[in-house]
Amino acid sequence: MKVRVAFGEKGALLAAERGHIVIVVDTLRASTTVTTALENGAERVIPVRTVKNAKKLFQSLVSKHPREKVVLAGERRGLRIPGFDLGNSPLEFTRSVVEGKIVILTTTNFTKVVSSALKAPFIMAGCLRNAMAAASLAMREAAKQGRNVTIVHSGRKGFFTPEDYITAVVIKNFMEGRREPEGFERCVFNSPSAKYLASIGLGEDVKYCAQLNQSKTVPVIEFTSFVGRLISPF
Ligand code: MLT
Repeated sequence: MKVRVAFGEKGALLAAERGHIVIVVDTLRASTTVTTALENGAERVIPVRTVKNAKKLFQSLVSKHPREKVVLAGERRGLRIPGFDLGNSPLEFTRSVVEGKIVILTTTNFTKVVSSALKAPFIMAGCLRNAMAAASLAMREAAKQGRNVTIVHSGRKGFFTPEDYITAVVIKNFMEGRREPEGFERCVFNSPSAKYLASIGLGEDVKYCAQLNQSKTVPVIEFTSFVGRLISPF
């Protein structure tokens, strides 16, 4: 079984074409947000590429479910999209807000990379908070399915982001029986994404997203939604 690291939508597409198990990483903040929402009891999180499609899906779901069952969430430029219930801060996705709910989520990068991976046989969301659990699940699924694993660091608008890359390295290290790389937190806190989030008053999100192995919940795609798997790490 081989573990490789790839970048962005192209990396996700190639991994899917190769039949790899795909772990999509967007540490600040979407893969952390999805992990937190499912850990706090959300029924599922549906990643959607565009604001327009998120609104269309919302209208469709509220025609079949009570309004309070559906949460419309997402960000552009890091801020809650006007008219949406939530932004993309994991700290908003508390149990009282999301338990039992269907969450529709659209973000700048993560939801696009996930949609590029959708033909992969198995797709998970990884972040620092669930790194060891994600590594454990990927190893088990790779052994069970006889497949290789690609960890995709999402980046931002097609550009490399250090926090996503270092998270991919952390997960790869765990899969290969090694420790997290020295100084990974510094890499996250010093990243342009972290500085931007702090500049718009979302510095607490960075602290939360930078914590290692706080969650055993791994988001896994079933059809087109993320559902939570509770994993006992190695
Ligand atoms: C993304 O998906 O691009 C990021 O998570 C956006 C953000 O949370 O600021």
